[in-house]
Amino acid sequence: MALDIDFVRKQFPAFSEASLHGQAFFENAGGSYTCQPVIDRLTRFYTQRKVQPYAPYEASRLAGAEMDEARSRMAAILGVESDELNFGPSTSQNTYVLAQAFRKWMRPGEAIVVTNQDHEANTGPWRRLAEDGIEIREWRIDPETGHLTPEDLENLLDEKVRLVCFPHSSNVVGEINPVTEITAIAHAAGAFVCVDGVSYAPHGFPNVGELGPDIYLFSSYKTYGPHQGIMVIRRALGQMLPNQGHYFNGDVLYKRFTPAGPDHAQIAASAGMADYVELLAQHHGCTETDPAARAGFVHDLMRAHEVDLLQPLLDAVKDRNSVRLLGPAVAETRAPTVALALTRPAEPVAAELAKFGVMAGGGDFYAVRALQGMGVDPQKGVLRVSFTHYTARSEIDQLLQALDRVL
Ligand SMILES: Cc1ncc(COP(=O)(O)O)c(C=O)c1O
Repeated sequence: MALDIDFVRKQFPAFSEASLHGQAFFENAGGSYTCQPVIDRLTRFYTQRKVQPYAPYEASRLAGAEMDEARSRMAAILGVESDELNFGPSTSQNTYVLAQAFRKWMRPGEAIVVTNQDHEANTGPWRRLAEDGIEIREWRIDPETGHLTPEDLENLLDEKVRLVCFPHSSNVVGEINPVTEITAIAHAAGAFVCVDGVSYAPHGFPNVGELGPDIYLFSSYKTYGPHQGIMVIRRALGQMLPNQGHYFNGDVLYKRFTPAGPDHAQIAASAGMADYVELLAQHHGCTETDPAARAGFVHDLMRAHEVDLLQPLLDAVKDRNSVRLLGPAVAETRAPTVALALTRPAEPVAAELAKFGVMAGGGDFYAVRALQGMGVDPQKGVLRVSFTHYTARSEIDQLLQALDRVL
């Protein structure tokens, strides 16, 4: 069965917005369009429930219930328990708080493995633990391909390593890393695992429970939702790390690593992402009953559509003399986040694309270490074109024609 792209696009008001007409959106890895169910829930919260939640009056009770619904439904989709899901302001803030918890828990001389493939959010905060005597070991990408080789990780592991951090997919290399295999290697060496899923989750919510990491992070403003960071911390680790929230909330797992007061409306609106997955599952005749399995069905539909559209784009850029495609040229192995290193600075090229109705970006995308690791000058940056399941074939055609003109 193929994804019904017309049905999909009807769920996103941006596609019927007059001011965006004719504009093909290719900066989805920066942030996605928002789906209607999320907008509806956000509007309802702001208009009908904008009171302190969890108090004994009706508007407040409903506000709290909607927040709880978001947590439990998103957790079910991700294959984890409700209280293992945390809402924070952003993924960068979530990793920052986590790093403070590890800073207290780890002893000088113990080690953390980080990569140079990650966005800075899942590497910089960990590297700073060196200030407290933690040894930082870098799992390096192949300078040509940007690939992370699991065997290289094995050589970095010993009994000192407490944590291994890596991305499910890098926001410039795009290759999908084998999370289950890497997690098994790290666990066998006695280390916990922290996966940045920000560049992967927009292409279908993963079953985090099955994948197996101890921490999985993504940003809901890139998964058709509000501007939140969503962080799964599995119970065993979450209970062991020191509480970073108010001391009297320490026995509530989902309050331990989000010290700021939460954004009530945006948490409530996050249930709209689950509504959206459900809309797609129902429309396409999904017969599964478990929420994670229904999300898996939707994930596969999305991926198949994306892979179909991605290959022609990769084929069009991979052999161009003036362009270096970062990451693999095979659509099945990567996310549709395509970074191109050019012989000139990338941002002006993105500006040229805008003249052809293509919205894309140029720069380092906070993946400075990955660019340097591949010998790309971060000052010049890369031209990045990224799309998702709601992208139409006609938009890919528009992009290819525009690239022909500007490259
Ligand atoms: C792969 C990746 N990780 C982490 C982040 C940081 O997410 P946030 O903006 O929620 O802090 C980004 C943001 O672009 C990203 O692309």
